[in-house]
Amino acid sequence: SAAEKGGYDYFMLKEIAEQPKAVADTLLGRIDVSGALTLDEVRIPASELREVDKVVIVACGTAFHAGLIAKYAIEHWTRIPCEVELASEFRYRDPILGARSLVIAISQSGETMDTLMALRHAREQGSKVLAICNTNGSTIPRESDAVLYTHAGPEVAVASTKAFLTQLVACYLVALYLGQVRGTKWGDEIRAVIRDLAQISGAVERVLETMEPVRELARSLAGKDTVLFLGRHVGYPVALEGALKLKELAYMHAEGFAAGELKHGPIALIEEDLPVVVVVPSPRGRSVLHDKIVSNIQEIRARGARTIVIAEEGDEAVVPYADHLVRIPVTPVLLSPLVATVPLQVFACELATARGNEVDQPRNLAKSVTVE
Ligand code: AGP
Repeated sequence: SAAEKGGYDYFMLKEIAEQPKAVADTLLGRIDVSGALTLDEVRIPASELREVDKVVIVACGTAFHAGLIAKYAIEHWTRIPCEVELASEFRYRDPILGARSLVIAISQSGETMDTLMALRHAREQGSKVLAICNTNGSTIPRESDAVLYTHAGPEVAVASTKAFLTQLVACYLVALYLGQVRGTKWGDEIRAVIRDLAQISGAVERVLETMEPVRELARSLAGKDTVLFLGRHVGYPVALEGALKLKELAYMHAEGFAAGELKHGPIALIEEDLPVVVVVPSPRGRSVLHDKIVSNIQEIRARGARTIVIAEEGDEAVVPYADHLVRIPVTPVLLSPLVATVPLQVFACELATARGNEVDQPRNLAKSVTVE
């Protein structure tokens, strides 16, 4: 009913709008007065977490994209090697697991069969499994050694939005917690990240306030067949997620690429007026990547692409090459997917509407995939 949708036309719109609160709720009660993390629910003893020599993340779809982003944070903050694998591929390749592997299973529903089978396989090999889940008491957390709930509230729309952002926050918390427990780099840098995380809800809110031009752009592209997405570093999984949203909702051919791979093949796809969304890394810090992506934008534009550029406020270098420019607030690099993903969600949702598609219940899809 309309009341259930909180006055929005679709659950998806409501859930997109709920994201600032959802990411704040994921942090709630997990940071103490001294700025340290208190993840009591992670019932894996600190002594065991200190021994972890490998983190393996398993998930499907959007949750897998959260895992891809988590890898950057986990390896950077903890220096523990981290692998991310599609749950449906994981157990069939006889993965190397042991008592010192920490397996993280990410699932909104907690009922995804592929992810469940992957975690069962991991436990059979003696690994500890930590679930990151949104649904209290569902199967995946019940079968795991520990669970960190995302507290996003019920997600009804088939296309995942707020669950994704909160999965990211939960992954950051786990990464920081591992750092805290192990004493790796624990100190000012990690405390600063926790402070930045506490600000992120406001940044997401600001993105949501500036989405009208994105909706307008989406409507103008309703007749297109293909949209490509490019990103680099943590922007690469964001590009994959933007493409997945568009497939699910707009039933359009959409692909995400690592921008550095362009010249290894995908650039052959560029043709006159092809919309290409580019998620631009911050010009601060990793400016090398920023400069490289600006060259990519120039290259595809010279070949006729219509460039839709998602770039940080104050990034002036992209302006001459952006046919459409979407601004996102300045955030720390590793946290930037929390703001960069939002315009892509709005874009896909509006395109679905413009194409007359059912937003909350896309064809052929189920909210949770409980078969292998
Ligand atoms: C996301 O928009 C999708 N509907 C889908 O990829 C989903 O993320 C995937 O099926 C995993 O679901 P889960 O998080 O409930 O395990």
